[in-house]
Amino acid sequence: MDHFLYKDGVLHAEDVALTEIAAAVGTPFYVYSTATLERHFRVFDEALDGMDHLVCYAMKANSNIAVLKILGDLGAGMDVVSGGEYMRAKAAGVSGDKIVFSGVGKTREEMTLALTGGIRQFNVESEPELAVLNEVALSLGKVAPITVRVNPDVDAKTHAKIATGKSENKFGIPIAKAREVYAVAGAMKGIDVVGIDVHIGSQLTDLEPYRLAYQKVAELTAELRSDGHNIRRLDLGGGLGIPYARSNEAPPLPMDYGKVVRETVGDLGCEIEIEPGRLVAGNAGLLVSSVIYNKAGEGRDFMIVDAAMNDLIRPAMYEAHHDIVPVIEAAVGTEAAPFDIVGPVCESGDTFAKQRDMTPVADGEMIAFRSAGAYGAVMSSEYNTRPMIPEVLVKGDQFAVIRKRPTFDEMIKRDTVPEWQ
Ligand code: LLP
Repeated sequence: MDHFLYKDGVLHAEDVALTEIAAAVGTPFYVYSTATLERHFRVFDEALDGMDHLVCYAMKANSNIAVLKILGDLGAGMDVVSGGEYMRAKAAGVSGDKIVFSGVGKTREEMTLALTGGIRQFNVESEPELAVLNEVALSLGKVAPITVRVNPDVDAKTHAKIATGKSENKFGIPIAKAREVYAVAGAMKGIDVVGIDVHIGSQLTDLEPYRLAYQKVAELTAELRSDGHNIRRLDLGGGLGIPYARSNEAPPLPMDYGKVVRETVGDLGCEIEIEPGRLVAGNAGLLVSSVIYNKAGEGRDFMIVDAAMNDLIRPAMYEAHHDIVPVIEAAVGTEAAPFDIVGPVCESGDTFAKQRDMTPVADGEMIAFRSAGAYGAVMSSEYNTRPMIPEVLVKGDQFAVIRKRPTFDEMIKRDTVPEWQ
């Protein structure tokens, strides 16, 4: 559920008409709904009700500080994967003891930043990383709390580019090798083993892979405890999918996911952490764009819009589907027709949808891409020297720009010409 509905024929974000935002900031722009963000976070929090738990929002999905602040104020922790994300979480007011640090390539600098600024745990992904973390912690006179991310070799049945739990992926330590690695970690003076971490992929639409992975984690918990480790925390990762095509997709609900958690690891006496990103932010955001030209091609009609693959790369990168709707609702009885919806970037890959049935949208009128709140703005670039588009946050009948569009001047000034040129 989200808060983007038509009122008097105009698509709104909560109580604000998208036409009003467009008049203020121009298109294209991203718009997020506070109420939807809050609702999705609460749904997850409630799904784990009765268990000692912390929802650590995977901020890679949408890391605007205003978004983080909404979630932080509700009690969310954060899952970060870089020093930059760590700094953003801090800037949004999240305390270090609620931040978990994931990722296969943490550098010494990033470890130092987190150990000095405070950290709940590092999710360690390899033996070399473990050795370096121990060294860095000792040099700072600190002890680093860790889990080891185990790779359970489970097929998450999602797009190959976002599956992470198979042995062929770069993530984690093979679960069969886990006891060995925990023994090494347990003997390190700069390391405090607190638990186990697992994350099998993103946009999962089936709960079975979770069940399989979490059962393996439960078995490993017993084994590690018998080896003498004080396993008191389980980080179960993120990845629950959202409906991108509303007409025919119904991924499992957080409540049902919560049941799987309870059934598999609920009686181990561990504190549970989960790291949802997409499910919190995905359907809390739209990308709003204007049609520049309707162009009649040979045997197909193109809708050329002012957003492009640099603004929302998911269709080009993962063949992802985003529902696309007109901002001004078509008059009753208007016939839909197939359109190729494309951006202005000079690549054929800059295509948002092929032969999508839409009611016609005239030049200068607007469309909105749904489910664009996660992995939208954060994955954008300035390809073709297109400015990064503004992000707008709505709350009730108010809206504010939470990241402004840079001017061409600001963009160009970041380059420097060497003296010798
Ligand atoms: N935890 C870890 C360790 C992760 O690697 C990820 C996502 C998450 C949590 C959050 O997963 P979520 O709940 O958002 O599915 N750019 C891709 C998605 C990449 C996901 C990477 N890792 C996309 O646009 O579909």
